[in-house]
Amino acid sequence: MTSAPVRIGVVTVSDRAFRGIYADQGGPGIEAALTRILASPWQPVRRLVPDERPAIEAALRELADTECCPLIVTTGGTGPAPRDVTPEATEAVCERVLPGFGELMRADSLRAAPTAILSRQLAGTRGRSLIVNLPGKPSAIAECLAAVFPAVPYCIDLIG
Ligand code: MTE
Repeated sequence: MTSAPVRIGVVTVSDRAFRGIYADQGGPGIEAALTRILASPWQPVRRLVPDERPAIEAALRELADTECCPLIVTTGGTGPAPRDVTPEATEAVCERVLPGFGELMRADSLRAAPTAILSRQLAGTRGRSLIVNLPGKPSAIAECLAAVFPAVPYCIDLIG
């Protein structure tokens, strides 16, 4: 018997991609990185939202509570600019924050990119879902996912 592919939430947070000013690169960046990391087939459940807390929070709640994605990954909106609110939205919908994810991603990225200190990315759990923030830059997405991914399946086991 073959099991259904795991469904992973892929949330792009970007005003300009949402308005169609440029093509979303973050979502495809997450998908490419996950496909390299994961051994088995998986299915993205994609959402594209502007840098607005209500829209981000609604997408995260829906992917966790209705779509039942064990893992939800966001890209974008983690920096210090006034419209960067992804970490605030994530914290608002999570029951628990897992500070180690952000700490490890920043520490790992800082070795190559001093600007990684600007990312406020965090991770947390909502029900049986693990939510992980990644920066918007495609190269940062791959680096950050690779740094934390060894802990992801175990975390999902623990909350499932
Ligand atoms: N992380 C890595 N690995 N590499 C990078 O070049 N750039 C940073 C940072 N994280 C960077 C990185 C920069 S310049 C910013 S402003 C923040 O992520 C936030 O990006 P975001 O607002 O698109 O999420």
